[in-house]
Amino acid sequence: MEKDFISILDAKDELIALLDSAANLKNRQKAGELYEPLKNKALAMIFEKSSTRTRVSFEIGMAQMGGHALYLNPNDLQLGRGETIADTARVLSRYADGILYRGFSNNNTLELAEHSHIPVINGLDDLEHPCQALDDLFTIRESKGDFEKLRLAYVGDGNNVCNSLMLGSAIVGLDIAIATPRDYRPDTSLTRKAEKIAKDNGSEFAIMEDANAAVKEADVVYTDTWISMGMESEIEERENIFKSYQVNKKLLGSAKKDCIVMHCLPAHRGHEITDEVMDGKNSVVFEQAENRLHTQKAILLGLLG
Ligand code: CP
Ligand code: NVA
Repeated sequence: MEKDFISILDAKDELIALLDSAANLKNRQKAGELYEPLKNKALAMIFEKSSTRTRVSFEIGMAQMGGHALYLNPNDLQLGRGETIADTARVLSRYADGILYRGFSNNNTLELAEHSHIPVINGLDDLEHPCQALDDLFTIRESKGDFEKLRLAYVGDGNNVCNSLMLGSAIVGLDIAIATPRDYRPDTSLTRKAEKIAKDNGSEFAIMEDANAAVKEADVVYTDTWISMGMESEIEERENIFKSYQVNKKLLGSAKKDCIVMHCLPAHRGHEITDEVMDGKNSVVFEQAENRLHTQKAILLGLLG
């Protein structure tokens, strides 16, 4: 693996091995086995944005593997008073064995990694959410058995979650259809990369505006919030633009009967997804949430082990 896990592309060559490692870690945990390969290792976790899943699963994951995690709020750190990202990286590298960073700008994540001597894991920024994508692929494989001939439809905002999922899906060879409003497509440069990977793998890749067309015959239907953290000032405008992209029973009617419905959570019920779909028989959202724990333990083992 690369030193850091900033983009899902950093694990391009080890993706399947990471999924296998996560499956092994999940089995061990379900069997109640004590397995502490990260004894005495410490993970420094900086969160500039809120988090339930990422924070709790990394903290518990470290504890389960014998190590520990420190939750660091930038307002409590000198970072919040102007100490540079570079100096913060240099100092944390003297104490900890890894850094988990959830911030706003991908440039900051990259800067932190550049100046850190220990692995940096991207816990979400404006460009990517690679830990989520690894979990998503794990959950798809767990639900469907393998990735063979599966069609994934992403409906909604072409955001950080969409960018990483698009790349990850291309790497494992899923057919991908992404439906977003015209001005809310995934990142252009990452789209080009994903398209090339998909082409090399012989899988289909399409970005469109029509949600119904994207979901047609899909095995996996995925959505995320229309208003990512930091975009709260755009609520009204976005609610309006995205309203025809809601994952509801009618839209799901175009997908395969046995499709799975996924959402990285937190969900805004009644907005990007209805209660009926989120709590319905096709939904795997809470399995998906659980799998953050197992897949992130695999990342930690790969980088800190
Ligand atoms: N999906 C996800 O990253 O959730 P949190 O924001 O709760 O960490
Ligand atoms: N796209 C969302 C994901 C939250 C886990 C956000 O960035 O807020």
